[in-house]
Amino acid sequence: MNLSIDFLGVTFPNPTVLASGILGVTGDSLKNVVRNGAGGVTSKSVWLERHEGHKNPTMMGTESFYINAVGLPDGGIEKAREELGKYLDWEDRAPLIGNIVAGSIADFKSVAEKMAEIGPDIIEVNISCPNVEHEFGKPFACVAADAAEVTKIVKNVSKNIPVIVKLSPNVEDIAAIAVACEKAGADGLVACNTFGPGIVIDIDTAEPVLANKVGGVSGPGIKPLAVKKVMDIASAVKIPVIGMGGVVTGRDVIEFMMAGASLVGIGVGVYYRGASVFEKITEEIEDWVSENGVKNLSEIIGKAL
Ligand SMILES: Cc1cc2nc3c(=O)[nH]c(=O)nc-3n(C[C@H](O)[C@H](O)[C@H](O)COP(=O)(O)O)c2cc1C
Repeated sequence: MNLSIDFLGVTFPNPTVLASGILGVTGDSLKNVVRNGAGGVTSKSVWLERHEGHKNPTMMGTESFYINAVGLPDGGIEKAREELGKYLDWEDRAPLIGNIVAGSIADFKSVAEKMAEIGPDIIEVNISCPNVEHEFGKPFACVAADAAEVTKIVKNVSKNIPVIVKLSPNVEDIAAIAVACEKAGADGLVACNTFGPGIVIDIDTAEPVLANKVGGVSGPGIKPLAVKKVMDIASAVKIPVIGMGGVVTGRDVIEFMMAGASLVGIGVGVYYRGASVFEKITEEIEDWVSENGVKNLSEIIGKAL
């Protein structure tokens, strides 16, 4: 069955995409995700220079949510050049979204220039991580003018590679930020990054579970909130959206698509259903599509708007 989606001129064989920060560290791990059925992969966020993450424990999960404060650890863009290069040389590869992050406008420009040299199919700009606030202050995604400035600078140096901007759900009016990015030249948008920050307390010690104390929340419990954010964005802009937040089943993917997402990211779904989550979800989408007589998956994009 053909589940392919054209997104900004790039063909994804199915709408499932590995979300940034989960398994997307090395060339080999990216290949493994594609072997497990992902329609596309996103690299973890890449900094200009090496960046230390937070101390352990950085993550914990329950059946309804995950909380993490990994703190975006990374070896820097030169290390990414090696690893993403290995993936890009692989003939069976699926589309690659290269995710970049920075703490200043100047660094966003430099890391975007270098990411464009590496040559992913799409560049994703992470302006929305809630657990590095103590290092960099409020994310750029929290102020429309800042989000627009980052978008503009990355677009200027990204050559012909489409640029998508990953938004924070932790704002009063996500549609206003989305419109600001669209006006600044974004080719597409991604929502959501994690919610929060939140905190989990170990009641045996009365201490926070994470070493960083607070972290970003993802997983099934955030799904209705994330779907609403995607709807708000898709109703306000003309550019396409990648939706994510708590996806674990094929029905979740369909729901995000009906809310206006063209592609759907899967992050902690990997912890709930294993690395083969992409294959399982794709089979569930196929079943739903044939039961409902859908001829082309793009028919359902925005159907609930
Ligand atoms: C452990 C972990 C690490 C993450 N690292 C990144 C990252 O490097 N860059 C980024 O843009 N988002 C990062 N995220 C956010 C995810 O890409 C995704 O937006 C979020 O987890 C919601 O989707 P989910 O509920 O399917 O996990 C991370 C999430 C988790 C759980």
